[in-house]
Amino acid sequence: MANIGIVGYGFVGTAVEYGFKDDHNIRIYDKYKEEFDTLEGVVKSSELIFVCLPTPYKDENMNIDLSIMDENIEGISKYAKNTDKIVIIKSTVVPGTTRNYSNQYPDVNFCFNPEFLREAHHLEDFVNPDRTVIGADKEEVLARVAQLYRKKMPHVPMFMTDPTTAELVKYFSNLFLATKVTFANEMSEFCDALEVDYNEVKGMVTADRRISDSHLEITKEGGFGGKCFPKDLVALIGLGKKLGLEPSLLEAVWEKNLKVRKKQDWKDIPFVSSNQKK
Ligand SMILES: NC(=O)c1ccc[n+]([C@@H]2O[C@H](COP(=O)([O-])OP(=O)(O)OC[C@H]3O[C@@H](n4cnc5c(N)ncnc54)[C@H](O)[C@@H]3O)[C@@H](O)[C@H]2O)c1
Repeated sequence: MANIGIVGYGFVGTAVEYGFKDDHNIRIYDKYKEEFDTLEGVVKSSELIFVCLPTPYKDENMNIDLSIMDENIEGISKYAKNTDKIVIIKSTVVPGTTRNYSNQYPDVNFCFNPEFLREAHHLEDFVNPDRTVIGADKEEVLARVAQLYRKKMPHVPMFMTDPTTAELVKYFSNLFLATKVTFANEMSEFCDALEVDYNEVKGMVTADRRISDSHLEITKEGGFGGKCFPKDLVALIGLGKKLGLEPSLLEAVWEKNLKVRKKQDWKDIPFVSSNQKK
């Protein structure tokens, strides 16, 4: 039995609690949920600390806003430094972020462990993932986090890698699916112009086993929205530009989605855009 801390008790934080509560002691900190513990209390009493905080995007310059993470990682590091505690970042953060924290707080053990759950099925998805990805630079950190997951989910394929690779896996997955939605929306425009039925075309296309039928549905809202795809797309475009890349496909996906999505619903969801934190 381990003592597990959860920082940020939203969809991901509640799923982590659900997944581990039967076998471990759980303590929770959330700035906006006063019924729980303090950050100090959680970190001091936990060996493994899951960080499940929002990572909004900055409206003004197409970038990730790590201010909520920075504030909490600083607080956690105060009590986790020079101990064998592990800070497990579950929040989606742009590649390089976990190593930046490791450099900033060299006496703290960090790990990046992306979460792939769907919000509508967050509890079941957390305990039934297709794979577990653990990214850390220290072997003993990888081993201890792997042990926690193996005990709970012994049959789930596990990948152990470095933190930057693990961070990119999360964006690759989300943005591949977002691009698929945009592609489907563009194909449906062809269908409308040619007066053919999109769903009939889709049925024949997805008979090809290389193309799964996920994310090909044309919804009444159009395009993609919600909490994750828009903000993650903006964040990776921002990183691409910083790296001197030309993420032109991702930019086109963003522009197209702004046209086909009827309402930019993500602007009304708390903690998605930095202009609209709570
Ligand atoms: N929701 C999903 O489907 C999903 C899936 C995979 C990954 N993620 C990623 O996980 C992270 C968390 O997502 P979520 O959906 O659980 O978010 P959420 O908004 O549901 O929960 C975040 C929690 O953090 C708390 N919080 C906000 N600011 C805080 C602060 N300064 N200090 C302490 N607590 C604070 C909020 O009160 C809230 O309870 C994000 O990076 C997201 O991209 C989300």
